[in-house]
Amino acid sequence: MKSIIVTSALPYANGEIHLGHIASTYLPADIFVRYCRLNSYNTIFTCATDDFGTPILIKAEKEHKSPKDYVAHWYNQDKEDFERLGISFDIFDQTSSKENIEFVRYVFNRLYNNNYIYEKDVIQFYCEYDKKFLPDRYVIGTCPYCGANDQYSDICEQCSRIPEQILDPKCAICGNTPVNRVSKHYFFKLSAFSSRLKEWLNTNKNLQSDIKNYVLRWIEDGLKDWDITRDISWGVPIPLNEEQVLYGWFDNHLCYISATLKYLNNKVDDPKLFWNNSIIYHFIGKDIIYHHYLFLPAIRMGIEEEYKLPDFIPTRGHLMLAKQKISKSRNWYISLKDFLDVYPPDYLRFYIASIVSYSQEDLNFDWDEFASKINNELIANIGNFINRALTFASKKFNGIVPEYTDLDSLDRAIIDEINKIGDEVGSLIFSNEIDKGLRRILSFSNTLNQYFQAKEPWSDQLKAKNCIYISINAVRSLAVLLSPYIPFSSSNICKQLNIDEIDRWNPSELLIRPNHKLGVIKPLFKKIENDEIEKQKKRLG
Ligand code: MF3
Ligand code: ZN
Repeated sequence: MKSIIVTSALPYANGEIHLGHIASTYLPADIFVRYCRLNSYNTIFTCATDDFGTPILIKAEKEHKSPKDYVAHWYNQDKEDFERLGISFDIFDQTSSKENIEFVRYVFNRLYNNNYIYEKDVIQFYCEYDKKFLPDRYVIGTCPYCGANDQYSDICEQCSRIPEQILDPKCAICGNTPVNRVSKHYFFKLSAFSSRLKEWLNTNKNLQSDIKNYVLRWIEDGLKDWDITRDISWGVPIPLNEEQVLYGWFDNHLCYISATLKYLNNKVDDPKLFWNNSIIYHFIGKDIIYHHYLFLPAIRMGIEEEYKLPDFIPTRGHLMLAKQKISKSRNWYISLKDFLDVYPPDYLRFYIASIVSYSQEDLNFDWDEFASKINNELIANIGNFINRALTFASKKFNGIVPEYTDLDSLDRAIIDEINKIGDEVGSLIFSNEIDKGLRRILSFSNTLNQYFQAKEPWSDQLKAKNCIYISINAVRSLAVLLSPYIPFSSSNICKQLNIDEIDRWNPSELLIRPNHKLGVIKPLFKKIENDEIEKQKKRLG
């Protein structure tokens, strides 16, 4: 049986998880993973905090904490946030774990021995006022490619390119113009991989084609070797010079592998073989395409593909907030924690899943749309059908599922629908069309409401029997279909149905037999009131 390994981009351990993170990677990955598990694929969902790097060191310094304590704080916070939302990682590790550090140093040595890493003197910015080398975010300036101002020297947020030399540099701590100093750095020979990367991109049919095309153009434009050394104290010490550390983007993605192997260690005989026999998915947001389509595969190629390359790199756009770009520095974001203090996790999962397309297009979070989707789709459509069917069964049949007799054409049409729905929704989720899968579930539920209405079970006891037998089974179908999307509610539905938790993707089967006794029936959802939404708009952005 095929196994699947899913990773989602590692959050920097330097601040709150916000709705932007959730929409671009964690939720789509979690829905996908939950679906795979129900299909009895052996599925591993891996994540970790991204602990190293200059921005984190800067922040820790500002808070007068050791970087280790600083990242531990965010690790615990993130873990709790993800659990509250039901993001079901099998392992949530840290890039600063000893296993990752060891693995990263091993990879460095192999690349070095294979001549993919070389030394070169570089001129580094140095602040004479702060007495520090100033890598990456310690320097702000103008992007040499697109001319955008106020960009960090490690990545231009306007054009997503990595400036070789930022223009008009200023020290990010004190604002002074830095001076130049020589330092010996290690470089990764990305340029040596141009043709292999091109071939890999051209032959991998699973990658989104628009993205692939512009990555291919980057290769045509010429790849630059990457400076993988940092003159700071927080990072993976470089085996050949322990005074320096590796660049965060050298070590972080290797944690996809090291954390997965750590998880597998006492579970399978050969974790490496398991990795290589699995279908590999790296879920990411579009801001880190360069790193995942070029840098990451090149590093794996550089160690002879000892660990196989990704099969899929599901890449999604950014979430905007009221049509504006989310920005932590401008305080324009909604943290997951704040959101979950007010609304149930499934409301967020439902709403985001309904807008998250499988593309790089940006999404927009809108409070009114949120309320109307919850009220009109989740509650008035899905919740309504479930509650109606369960309540009717409980009142008119004492909570005992009735026997069915001669099915009429309406009954048969619905059973046909039930028989089809599992494959239809399943194949949408499996091809990462999360929003379309949910839309299909909504149209199914809509059909169920119409069926219930047309059968008028309240008018005739005989007609009611077939209707309720089928509807109760359809409620179970919904519990299965919805379980990747809104797992908390799905398990609530199971309780009311008085059945075990969903553990198999079998929405097309009618498994609830006549005479089965239902549980206690309660409304599943609470409507979102208008004044409440107005309050949140003011409070959260
Ligand atoms: N921490 C990075 C970011 O938020 C993502 C790292 S993903 C990995 O942009 F590939 F490096 F692990
Ligand atoms: Zn300075």
